[in-house]
Amino acid sequence: MTVTQYVGSSDEARKALIDRMKGGDLTVSNKEMAEAFKIDPHYDAYGVPLDKMDPAHPALFANDTIWPHLERLRKEDPVHFTENSMVGPYWSVTRYEDIMYVDTHHEIFSSKATLGGITLGGIPDRDDEFSLPMFIMEDPPKHDLQRKVVTPMFVPKQLMDLEPLIRERAGQILDGLPIGEEFNWVRSVSVELTAQMLATLFDIPQEDRMKLILWSDTSQNMGDPEYFETPEEGFQILFECLGYFQQIYEERKTQPAKFDLISMLAHDESTNNMSPQELLGNILLLIVGGNDTTRNSISGGVLALHENPGEYEKLLQNPGLIPKMVPEMIRWQSPVAHMARTALQDTELGGKKIKKGDRVCMWYISGNRDNDSIDEADKFIIDRVNPRQHTAFGYGVHRCVGNRLAEMQLRVIWEEIMKRFSKIEVTGEPKYLTSSFIHGITDLPVTLKA
Ligand code: HEM
Repeated sequence: MTVTQYVGSSDEARKALIDRMKGGDLTVSNKEMAEAFKIDPHYDAYGVPLDKMDPAHPALFANDTIWPHLERLRKEDPVHFTENSMVGPYWSVTRYEDIMYVDTHHEIFSSKATLGGITLGGIPDRDDEFSLPMFIMEDPPKHDLQRKVVTPMFVPKQLMDLEPLIRERAGQILDGLPIGEEFNWVRSVSVELTAQMLATLFDIPQEDRMKLILWSDTSQNMGDPEYFETPEEGFQILFECLGYFQQIYEERKTQPAKFDLISMLAHDESTNNMSPQELLGNILLLIVGGNDTTRNSISGGVLALHENPGEYEKLLQNPGLIPKMVPEMIRWQSPVAHMARTALQDTELGGKKIKKGDRVCMWYISGNRDNDSIDEADKFIIDRVNPRQHTAFGYGVHRCVGNRLAEMQLRVIWEEIMKRFSKIEVTGEPKYLTSSFIHGITDLPVTLKA
Protein backbone atom coordinates (compact mmCIF):
# COMPACT_ATOMS: atom_id res chain seq x y z
CA MET A 1 0.00 0.00 0.00
CA THR A 2 1.29 3.46 -0.81
CA VAL A 3 0.54 6.02 1.85
CA THR A 4 1.21 9.61 0.95
CA GLN A 5 -0.76 11.10 3.81
CA TYR A 6 -0.87 10.70 7.53
CA VAL A 7 -3.40 8.08 8.50
CA GLY A 8 -4.69 9.81 11.67
CA SER A 9 -6.31 13.20 12.54
CA SER A 10 -6.84 16.24 10.38
CA ASP A 11 -4.36 18.82 9.07
CA GLU A 12 -5.87 21.37 11.45
CA ALA A 13 -5.34 19.09 14.44
CA ARG A 14 -1.73 18.51 13.39
CA LYS A 15 -1.11 22.20 12.91
CA ALA A 16 -2.53 22.96 16.35
CA LEU A 17 -0.18 20.40 17.93
CA ILE A 18 2.85 21.76 16.05
CA ASP A 19 1.98 25.32 17.12
CA ARG A 20 1.84 24.19 20.76
CA MET A 21 5.21 22.39 20.44
CA LYS A 22 6.79 25.38 18.69
CA GLY A 23 5.53 27.58 21.47
CA GLY A 24 7.48 25.35 23.88
CA ASP A 25 4.45 23.63 25.43
CA LEU A 26 5.80 20.43 26.97
CA THR A 27 2.39 19.22 28.11
CA VAL A 28 1.42 18.10 24.61
CA SER A 29 0.38 14.47 24.94
CA ASN A 30 2.91 12.09 23.37
CA LYS A 31 0.07 9.71 22.47
CA GLU A 32 -1.93 12.44 20.75
CA MET A 33 1.17 13.49 18.81
CA ALA A 34 1.93 9.90 17.73
CA GLU A 35 -1.71 9.39 16.66
CA ALA A 36 -1.93 12.66 14.73
CA PHE A 37 1.29 11.96 12.80
CA LYS A 38 0.77 8.23 12.34
CA ILE A 39 2.04 6.85 9.02
CA ASP A 40 2.39 3.44 7.44
CA PRO A 41 6.17 3.05 8.02
CA HIS A 42 6.40 0.56 5.15
CA TYR A 43 5.13 2.92 2.46
CA ASP A 44 7.02 2.96 -0.83
CA ALA A 45 9.67 5.69 -0.62
CA TYR A 46 9.67 5.95 -4.43
CA GLY A 47 5.88 6.02 -4.69
CA VAL A 48 5.24 9.45 -3.16
CA PRO A 49 5.68 12.93 -4.65
CA LEU A 50 9.12 14.27 -3.70
CA ASP A 51 7.67 17.16 -1.74
CA LYS A 52 5.92 14.73 0.61
CA MET A 53 9.16 13.04 1.65
CA ASP A 54 9.82 13.33 5.38
CA PRO A 55 12.87 11.30 6.44
CA ALA A 56 12.69 12.65 10.00
CA HIS A 57 9.59 10.63 10.80
CA PRO A 58 10.60 8.45 13.79
CA ALA A 59 8.45 5.51 12.60
CA LEU A 60 10.84 5.02 9.66
CA PHE A 61 13.66 4.49 12.15
CA ALA A 62 11.62 2.34 14.56
CA ASN A 63 10.81 0.01 11.65
CA ASP A 64 14.22 0.20 9.96
CA THR A 65 12.54 1.37 6.74
CA ILE A 66 14.46 4.67 6.44
CA TRP A 67 17.05 3.44 3.92
CA PRO A 68 15.17 3.80 0.57
CA HIS A 69 13.99 7.26 1.66
CA LEU A 70 17.56 8.46 2.09
CA GLU A 71 18.67 6.68 -1.09
CA ARG A 72 15.99 8.43 -3.14
CA LEU A 73 16.86 11.82 -1.69
CA ARG A 74 20.58 11.32 -2.42
CA LYS A 75 19.75 10.49 -6.02
CA GLU A 76 16.87 12.84 -6.80
CA ASP A 77 16.95 15.76 -4.37
CA PRO A 78 20.09 15.82 -2.21
CA VAL A 79 19.18 19.13 -0.59
CA HIS A 80 15.51 18.60 0.08
CA PHE A 81 12.87 20.75 1.74
CA THR A 82 10.07 19.20 3.82
CA GLU A 83 7.36 21.73 4.56
CA ASN A 84 5.11 19.74 6.88
CA SER A 85 6.35 17.35 9.52
CA MET A 86 6.20 16.58 13.23
CA VAL A 87 9.28 18.75 13.67
CA GLY A 88 8.13 21.64 11.48
CA PRO A 89 9.76 22.63 8.17
CA TYR A 90 13.36 21.51 7.55
CA TRP A 91 16.00 20.92 4.88
CA SER A 92 17.55 17.45 4.51
CA VAL A 93 21.19 17.28 3.39
CA THR A 94 21.89 13.68 2.37
CA ARG A 95 25.16 13.64 0.38
CA TYR A 96 28.58 13.26 1.99
CA GLU A 97 30.13 16.36 0.36
CA ASP A 98 27.21 18.63 1.26
CA ILE A 99 27.22 17.34 4.84
CA MET A 100 30.93 18.18 5.09
CA TYR A 101 30.20 21.65 3.76
CA VAL A 102 27.47 22.39 6.32
CA ASP A 103 29.44 20.91 9.21
CA THR A 104 32.58 22.92 8.42
CA HIS A 105 30.78 26.27 7.96
CA HIS A 106 29.61 27.10 11.46
CA GLU A 107 29.64 30.81 10.58
CA ILE A 108 26.71 30.09 8.21
CA PHE A 109 25.07 27.13 9.98
CA SER A 110 24.72 27.68 13.71
CA SER A 111 24.36 25.09 16.48
CA LYS A 112 23.01 27.57 19.02
CA ALA A 113 20.30 26.28 21.34
CA THR A 114 18.58 29.68 21.27
CA LEU A 115 18.02 29.25 17.51
CA GLY A 116 16.82 25.63 17.76
CA GLY A 117 20.01 23.69 18.53
CA ILE A 118 21.23 20.46 17.00
CA THR A 119 18.22 18.17 16.89
CA LEU A 120 15.21 18.53 14.64
CA GLY A 121 12.30 19.69 16.74
CA GLY A 122 14.53 21.87 18.96
CA ILE A 123 12.63 24.84 20.42
CA PRO A 124 14.29 28.23 19.87
CA ASP A 125 14.28 31.06 22.43
CA ARG A 126 13.53 28.84 25.37
CA ASP A 127 14.56 30.46 28.64
CA ASP A 128 13.00 28.48 31.48
CA GLU A 129 13.86 25.45 33.61
CA PHE A 130 13.38 23.25 30.54
CA SER A 131 16.11 24.97 28.51
CA LEU A 132 19.29 22.92 28.53
CA PRO A 133 22.28 24.91 27.29
CA MET A 134 25.29 22.71 26.48
CA PHE A 135 28.46 23.30 24.53
CA ILE A 136 27.42 21.18 21.55
CA MET A 137 24.60 23.74 21.17
CA GLU A 138 26.93 26.75 21.18
CA ASP A 139 29.04 28.38 18.48
CA PRO A 140 32.59 29.65 18.93
CA PRO A 141 33.93 31.29 21.04
CA LYS A 142 31.88 29.92 23.98
CA HIS A 143 31.79 26.45 22.44
CA ASP A 144 35.57 26.28 22.08
CA LEU A 145 36.23 27.41 25.65
CA GLN A 146 33.92 24.80 27.20
CA ARG A 147 34.99 21.97 24.86
CA LYS A 148 38.62 22.60 25.86
CA VAL A 149 37.74 21.86 29.49
CA VAL A 150 36.90 18.19 28.86
CA THR A 151 39.27 17.50 25.95
CA PRO A 152 42.21 16.30 28.16
CA MET A 153 40.08 13.31 29.16
CA PHE A 154 40.17 11.99 25.60
CA VAL A 155 43.83 12.45 24.56
CA PRO A 156 45.85 9.35 23.50
CA LYS A 157 47.93 9.13 26.70
CA GLN A 158 44.78 9.12 28.86
CA LEU A 159 43.16 6.51 26.63
CA MET A 160 46.23 4.28 26.92
CA ASP A 161 45.99 4.54 30.71
CA LEU A 162 42.28 3.64 30.61
CA GLU A 163 42.63 0.66 28.31
CA PRO A 164 43.58 -2.00 30.91
CA LEU A 165 40.56 -1.06 33.06
CA ILE A 166 38.20 -1.24 30.08
CA ARG A 167 39.69 -4.60 29.11
CA GLU A 168 39.23 -5.97 32.61
CA ARG A 169 35.60 -4.78 32.75
CA ALA A 170 34.84 -6.07 29.26
CA GLY A 171 36.26 -9.45 30.27
CA GLN A 172 34.14 -9.58 33.42
CA ILE A 173 30.97 -8.72 31.50
CA LEU A 174 31.67 -11.33 28.82
CA ASP A 175 32.60 -14.01 31.36
CA GLY A 176 29.19 -13.56 33.02
CA LEU A 177 27.24 -14.33 29.82
CA PRO A 178 25.39 -17.63 29.33
CA ILE A 179 26.54 -20.00 26.57
CA GLY A 180 23.87 -21.58 24.36
CA GLU A 181 21.03 -19.59 25.91
CA GLU A 182 19.27 -16.61 24.32
CA PHE A 183 19.68 -13.16 25.94
CA ASN A 184 19.45 -9.48 24.96
CA TRP A 185 22.95 -8.38 23.90
CA VAL A 186 22.03 -4.69 24.18
CA ARG A 187 21.23 -4.76 27.90
CA SER A 188 23.77 -7.36 28.99
CA VAL A 189 26.80 -6.11 27.07
CA SER A 190 26.48 -2.82 25.16
CA VAL A 191 24.69 -0.92 27.93
CA GLU A 192 26.80 -2.43 30.72
CA LEU A 193 30.16 -1.64 29.19
CA THR A 194 29.35 1.97 28.27
CA ALA A 195 27.67 2.68 31.62
CA GLN A 196 30.66 1.37 33.58
CA MET A 197 32.93 3.50 31.42
CA LEU A 198 30.92 6.66 32.04
CA ALA A 199 30.77 6.08 35.80
CA THR A 200 34.58 5.92 35.66
CA LEU A 201 34.90 9.14 33.62
CA PHE A 202 32.61 10.97 36.08
CA ASP A 203 34.25 9.22 39.07
CA ILE A 204 30.93 8.23 40.62
CA PRO A 205 30.22 4.89 42.34
CA GLN A 206 29.77 2.00 39.89
CA GLU A 207 26.49 1.11 41.69
CA ASP A 208 25.05 4.36 40.31
CA ARG A 209 25.73 3.48 36.68
CA MET A 210 22.13 2.36 36.08
CA LYS A 211 21.03 5.89 36.96
CA LEU A 212 23.15 7.13 34.06
CA ILE A 213 21.35 4.71 31.79
CA LEU A 214 17.95 5.83 33.05
CA TRP A 215 18.83 9.48 32.43
CA SER A 216 20.34 8.75 29.05
CA ASP A 217 17.31 6.69 27.98
CA THR A 218 14.92 9.31 29.36
CA SER A 219 16.43 12.05 27.25
CA GLN A 220 15.89 9.89 24.14
CA ASN A 221 12.38 8.71 25.07
CA MET A 222 10.81 12.01 26.20
CA GLY A 223 8.41 12.07 23.27
CA ASP A 224 7.61 8.36 23.24
CA PRO A 225 4.11 7.53 24.56
CA GLU A 226 5.36 4.10 25.65
CA TYR A 227 7.52 5.81 28.27
CA PHE A 228 5.95 9.17 29.13
CA GLU A 229 2.56 10.82 28.79
CA THR A 230 4.15 14.18 28.06
CA PRO A 231 7.70 15.49 27.59
CA GLU A 232 7.21 17.39 30.85
CA GLU A 233 6.86 14.08 32.69
CA GLY A 234 10.23 12.97 31.27
CA PHE A 235 11.81 16.19 32.51
CA GLN A 236 10.95 15.29 36.11
CA ILE A 237 13.40 12.38 35.81
CA LEU A 238 16.05 14.62 34.29
CA PHE A 239 15.68 16.98 37.25
CA GLU A 240 16.72 14.04 39.46
CA CYS A 241 19.87 13.84 37.33
CA LEU A 242 20.46 17.53 38.02
CA GLY A 243 20.01 17.02 41.78
CA TYR A 244 22.51 14.16 41.75
CA PHE A 245 25.23 15.97 39.80
CA GLN A 246 24.69 19.41 41.34
CA GLN A 247 25.76 18.04 44.69
CA ILE A 248 28.87 16.38 43.23
CA TYR A 249 29.75 19.51 41.19
CA GLU A 250 29.52 21.75 44.27
CA GLU A 251 31.54 19.29 46.38
CA ARG A 252 34.30 18.98 43.79
CA LYS A 253 34.61 22.76 43.56
CA THR A 254 35.73 22.72 47.20
CA GLN A 255 38.18 19.82 46.68
CA PRO A 256 41.55 19.86 44.89
CA ALA A 257 41.21 19.43 41.10
CA LYS A 258 41.10 15.76 40.02
CA PHE A 259 41.13 14.03 36.66
CA ASP A 260 37.42 13.31 36.20
CA LEU A 261 34.87 15.08 34.03
CA ILE A 262 32.91 16.68 36.91
CA SER A 263 36.04 17.95 38.65
CA MET A 264 37.27 19.36 35.32
CA LEU A 265 34.00 21.27 34.89
CA ALA A 266 34.06 22.41 38.53
CA HIS A 267 37.57 23.88 38.29
CA ASP A 268 37.72 25.68 34.93
CA GLU A 269 36.64 29.30 34.84
CA SER A 270 34.46 28.81 31.75
CA THR A 271 32.45 26.04 33.44
CA ASN A 272 32.73 26.56 37.22
CA ASN A 273 29.81 28.93 37.43
CA MET A 274 27.15 27.21 35.35
CA SER A 275 23.44 27.69 36.04
CA PRO A 276 21.55 24.50 37.02
CA GLN A 277 20.19 24.26 33.44
CA GLU A 278 23.63 24.59 31.91
CA LEU A 279 25.10 22.02 34.29
CA LEU A 280 22.30 19.58 33.46
CA GLY A 281 22.70 20.31 29.74
CA ASN A 282 26.44 19.60 29.72
CA ILE A 283 26.09 16.52 31.91
CA LEU A 284 23.42 15.14 29.57
CA LEU A 285 25.66 15.89 26.61
CA LEU A 286 28.41 13.77 28.14
CA ILE A 287 26.01 11.03 29.22
CA VAL A 288 24.23 10.73 25.88
CA GLY A 289 27.42 11.41 23.90
CA GLY A 290 29.29 8.67 25.72
CA ASN A 291 26.49 6.20 26.18
CA ASP A 292 23.98 5.84 23.37
CA THR A 293 26.51 6.22 20.60
CA THR A 294 29.07 3.61 21.62
CA ARG A 295 26.32 1.33 22.90
CA ASN A 296 24.61 1.28 19.51
CA SER A 297 27.87 0.78 17.65
CA ILE A 298 28.57 -2.32 19.74
CA SER A 299 25.09 -3.73 19.08
CA GLY A 300 25.08 -2.64 15.42
CA GLY A 301 28.41 -4.40 14.90
CA VAL A 302 27.05 -7.72 16.15
CA LEU A 303 24.06 -7.37 13.83
CA ALA A 304 26.22 -6.37 10.86
CA LEU A 305 28.44 -9.44 11.22
CA HIS A 306 25.38 -11.66 11.50
CA GLU A 307 23.91 -10.19 8.33
CA ASN A 308 27.23 -10.46 6.49
CA PRO A 309 28.49 -13.99 7.23
CA GLY A 310 31.34 -13.65 4.72
CA GLU A 311 32.72 -10.75 6.75
CA TYR A 312 32.29 -12.71 10.00
CA GLU A 313 34.31 -15.50 8.42
CA LYS A 314 37.06 -13.01 7.49
CA LEU A 315 37.18 -11.89 11.13
CA LEU A 316 37.32 -15.44 12.46
CA GLN A 317 40.22 -16.16 10.09
CA ASN A 318 42.02 -12.94 10.96
CA PRO A 319 41.18 -11.18 14.27
CA GLY A 320 44.00 -8.74 13.40
CA LEU A 321 41.36 -6.97 11.28
CA ILE A 322 39.59 -5.62 14.39
CA PRO A 323 41.19 -2.12 14.29
CA LYS A 324 39.91 -1.71 10.71
CA MET A 325 36.57 -3.32 11.45
CA VAL A 326 35.75 -0.92 14.30
CA PRO A 327 35.43 2.30 12.22
CA GLU A 328 33.50 0.29 9.63
CA MET A 329 31.02 -0.76 12.32
CA ILE A 330 30.64 2.87 13.40
CA ARG A 331 30.06 3.96 9.80
CA TRP A 332 27.60 1.14 9.21
CA GLN A 333 25.56 1.90 12.33
CA SER A 334 25.92 5.72 12.25
CA PRO A 335 24.53 5.96 15.79
CA VAL A 336 24.00 9.70 15.51
CA ALA A 337 21.60 9.73 12.57
CA HIS A 338 21.47 13.50 12.24
CA MET A 339 22.65 16.83 13.56
CA ALA A 340 20.69 19.97 12.74
CA ARG A 341 21.77 23.58 12.30
CA THR A 342 20.06 26.95 11.78
CA ALA A 343 21.05 29.17 8.83
CA LEU A 344 22.43 32.49 10.07
CA GLN A 345 22.08 34.11 6.65
CA ASP A 346 20.49 33.50 3.27
CA THR A 347 22.71 31.01 1.47
CA GLU A 348 22.82 28.44 -1.31
CA LEU A 349 23.50 24.72 -1.11
CA GLY A 350 23.24 22.22 -3.95
CA GLY A 351 21.49 24.87 -6.05
CA LYS A 352 18.79 25.42 -3.41
CA LYS A 353 18.14 28.74 -1.73
CA ILE A 354 18.21 28.39 2.04
CA LYS A 355 16.82 31.32 3.99
CA LYS A 356 18.13 32.85 7.19
CA GLY A 357 16.45 31.03 10.10
CA ASP A 358 15.78 27.82 8.13
CA ARG A 359 16.51 24.55 9.90
CA VAL A 360 19.06 22.38 8.07
CA CYS A 361 19.53 18.71 8.90
CA MET A 362 22.73 16.81 8.09
CA TRP A 363 21.86 13.14 7.73
CA TYR A 364 25.16 11.51 8.74
CA ILE A 365 23.51 8.13 8.35
CA SER A 366 22.94 8.97 4.68
CA GLY A 367 26.39 10.46 4.00
CA ASN A 368 27.73 7.12 5.17
CA ARG A 369 25.85 5.33 2.38
CA ASP A 370 26.87 7.78 -0.36
CA ASN A 371 28.53 5.77 -3.14
CA ASP A 372 29.91 8.94 -4.73
CA SER A 373 32.23 9.47 -1.76
CA ILE A 374 32.69 6.03 -0.21
CA ASP A 375 33.48 2.97 -2.35
CA GLU A 376 30.67 0.41 -2.15
CA ALA A 377 29.11 2.42 0.63
CA ASP A 378 26.12 0.10 0.79
CA LYS A 379 28.33 -2.87 1.69
CA PHE A 380 29.71 -3.76 5.12
CA ILE A 381 33.40 -4.55 4.50
CA ILE A 382 35.63 -5.09 7.53
CA ASP A 383 38.95 -4.65 5.70
CA ARG A 384 38.37 -1.37 3.89
CA VAL A 385 41.45 0.54 2.74
CA ASN A 386 40.29 3.79 4.33
CA PRO A 387 37.74 2.84 7.00
CA ARG A 388 37.92 6.13 8.91
CA GLN A 389 36.49 8.04 5.97
CA HIS A 390 32.93 8.41 7.24
CA THR A 391 30.53 11.04 8.56
CA ALA A 392 29.55 9.31 11.82
CA PHE A 393 31.67 11.58 14.07
CA GLY A 394 30.84 14.79 12.19
CA TYR A 395 33.40 17.38 11.07
CA GLY A 396 34.51 20.87 11.98
CA VAL A 397 34.53 22.48 15.40
CA HIS A 398 32.00 20.02 16.88
CA ARG A 399 33.67 16.84 15.62
CA CYS A 400 33.13 14.20 18.28
CA VAL A 401 35.50 14.75 21.19
CA GLY A 402 35.13 11.12 22.33
CA ASN A 403 35.81 9.45 18.97
CA ARG A 404 39.08 7.74 19.93
CA LEU A 405 37.62 6.56 23.24
CA ALA A 406 34.66 5.04 21.39
CA GLU A 407 36.97 3.28 18.93
CA MET A 408 39.12 1.98 21.77
CA GLN A 409 36.10 0.59 23.66
CA LEU A 410 34.90 -1.18 20.54
CA ARG A 411 38.35 -2.56 19.72
CA VAL A 412 38.82 -3.90 23.25
CA ILE A 413 35.37 -5.52 23.45
CA TRP A 414 35.89 -7.26 20.10
CA GLU A 415 39.37 -8.45 21.07
CA GLU A 416 37.91 -9.92 24.25
CA ILE A 417 34.92 -11.45 22.40
CA MET A 418 37.27 -13.19 19.97
CA LYS A 419 39.22 -14.73 22.87
CA ARG A 420 36.08 -16.29 24.33
CA PHE A 421 33.40 -17.16 21.78
CA SER A 422 33.52 -18.94 18.44
CA LYS A 423 30.31 -17.21 17.30
CA ILE A 424 27.63 -14.72 18.33
CA GLU A 425 24.41 -15.84 16.63
CA VAL A 426 21.56 -13.34 16.36
CA THR A 427 18.59 -15.55 17.21
CA GLY A 428 15.66 -13.11 17.16
CA GLU A 429 14.44 -9.93 15.49
CA PRO A 430 16.21 -6.72 16.49
CA LYS A 431 14.08 -3.85 17.83
CA TYR A 432 14.96 -0.29 16.96
CA LEU A 433 14.68 2.99 18.86
CA THR A 434 11.81 5.29 17.85
CA SER A 435 14.08 8.23 17.09
CA SER A 436 15.47 10.00 14.05
CA PHE A 437 18.31 11.42 16.15
CA ILE A 438 19.93 8.40 17.79
CA HIS A 439 19.95 5.44 15.40
CA GLY A 440 19.60 2.84 18.10
CA ILE A 441 18.92 -0.82 18.72
CA THR A 442 17.00 -1.54 21.93
CA ASP A 443 16.82 -5.35 21.73
CA LEU A 444 19.13 -7.81 20.03
CA PRO A 445 18.46 -11.42 21.00
CA VAL A 446 21.63 -13.49 20.63
CA THR A 447 22.97 -16.91 21.54
CA LEU A 448 26.68 -17.50 22.14
CA LYS A 449 28.75 -20.48 21.03
CA ALA A 450 31.76 -21.36 23.18
C1 HEM B 1 30.68 5.58 18.18
C2 HEM B 1 30.56 6.46 19.12
C3 HEM B 1 30.28 7.92 18.90
C4 HEM B 1 29.72 8.56 17.82
C5 HEM B 1 29.26 7.97 16.51
C6 HEM B 1 29.64 9.97 18.16
C7 HEM B 1 29.15 10.95 17.30
C8 HEM B 1 29.19 12.30 17.57
C9 HEM B 1 28.74 13.31 16.65
C10 HEM B 1 28.15 13.07 15.27
C11 HEM B 1 28.98 14.52 17.23
C12 HEM B 1 28.65 15.91 16.63
C13 HEM B 1 29.62 16.23 15.54
C14 HEM B 1 29.28 17.49 14.78
O1 HEM B 1 28.30 18.19 15.09
O2 HEM B 1 30.03 17.79 13.84
C15 HEM B 1 29.54 14.26 18.53
C16 HEM B 1 29.89 15.23 19.43
C17 HEM B 1 30.26 14.95 20.73
N1 HEM B 1 30.52 13.71 21.25
FE1 HEM B 1 30.45 11.94 20.32
N2 HEM B 1 30.13 10.15 19.41
C18 HEM B 1 30.54 8.92 19.91
C19 HEM B 1 31.13 8.68 21.14
C20 HEM B 1 31.35 9.63 22.11
C21 HEM B 1 31.93 9.37 23.42
C22 HEM B 1 32.44 8.02 23.91
C23 HEM B 1 31.92 10.57 24.09
C24 HEM B 1 32.37 10.90 25.47
C25 HEM B 1 32.35 10.20 26.53
C26 HEM B 1 31.36 11.57 23.19
C27 HEM B 1 31.18 12.89 23.50
C28 HEM B 1 30.83 13.87 22.58
C29 HEM B 1 30.78 15.29 22.93
C30 HEM B 1 31.06 15.91 24.29
C31 HEM B 1 30.43 15.97 21.74
C32 HEM B 1 30.27 17.47 21.53
C33 HEM B 1 31.51 18.02 20.84
C34 HEM B 1 31.42 19.49 20.50
O3 HEM B 1 30.33 20.05 20.40
O4 HEM B 1 32.47 20.09 20.34
N3 HEM B 1 31.03 10.96 22.00
N4 HEM B 1 29.66 12.89 18.71
